Amino acid sequence: MDRDQLSAVAIALGAAGDGFRKGVLAADESTGTIGKRFEAIGVESSLETRRDYREILLRSEAIGAQISGVILYDETLRQSAADGTSFVEIIEAAGAFPGIKVDRGLAPLPGFPGESITQGLDGLAGRLAEYRKLGARFTKWRAVIDVGPGVPSDHAIAANAQALARFAAHCHSADLVPIVEPEVLMDGDHDLAHCYAVSKRTLTRVFYELNEARVFLEGIVLKPNMVVPGLKHIRKAEPEEVARATLRLLCNCVPAAVPTIAFLSGGQNEIEATANLDALNKLGPSPWALTFSFGRALQSTAQKTWAGRSVNATAAQRAFEHRALMNVLAARGRWSQDLEA
Ligand code: 13P
Repeated sequence: MDRDQLSAVAIALGAAGDGFRKGVLAADESTGTIGKRFEAIGVESSLETRRDYREILLRSEAIGAQISGVILYDETLRQSAADGTSFVEIIEAAGAFPGIKVDRGLAPLPGFPGESITQGLDGLAGRLAEYRKLGARFTKWRAVIDVGPGVPSDHAIAANAQALARFAAHCHSADLVPIVEPEVLMDGDHDLAHCYAVSKRTLTRVFYELNEARVFLEGIVLKPNMVVPGLKHIRKAEPEEVARATLRLLCNCVPAAVPTIAFLSGGQNEIEATANLDALNKLGPSPWALTFSFGRALQSTAQKTWAGRSVNATAAQRAFEHRALMNVLAARGRWSQDLEA
């Protein structure tokens, strides 16, 4: 394990030097998930349409400028653009890091109805060695914590946290920076205080397990949810409220050794996610680079703009570049609503 290199990559995923920020594009939708996104815009999901869409994003000027790393999926890490240049080469040439989602999705947690465990530890070491050879420099594993009556159980939190820690340790052995993603879901009608409480239980256990597994914290990126009320809660929270609760959560749970915290968007719309990230960074300097690793909140408008038609490719790129720029400003606390115009 090359610790200097691991911590350099973990820092670079959040920062561009001189106090500037960058963020991560989560484009690691599984074939099933991208199929659902395409269905929503009336596009058939095929190897070719998926390639065309990913190529639009990867050839955008945001890659390297605002986007420090792109999380790919097994299919896309091996894929090439229409002209035969591999996606990995395109990302590297732009000055960004290729990354890869390595978990194998969710399975029901036996004996715990409504809860899940992330799969993928079996054979992981072999897959990581191959991905590193294919050019990946970082990885992602997503654990999902459901919120509902009597849920999450301590067992679900502990089992998922331990899997995250084992994943992270494997990645370091393969000289890959792990993005550790414990996502407390936004589904449900719970309030912000409840999200805070569940997120605190989760992150506390995640860092306990990371330490038990002797994970080198300077070489990871944490990808948490922000502290927000459930999507079905009667009231939305103001960005300042989300920011204060989220910062309080991080201060309670995340060691300052972790260089980069890159949030998921998790069902917030594009503007909400940007506004909340901005409010968080407006609260002042914190020990971590607080940035984004958004999927939907970077891609929604770009996807709708593209709508499966090559004539819309440039307009889709402009839409994606705009969101990347807005989020980089938010990652420095320099965004405002009027910049969206
Ligand atoms: P969202 O930003 O759409 O939540 O996606 C981020 C991600 O990578 C989820 O695993």
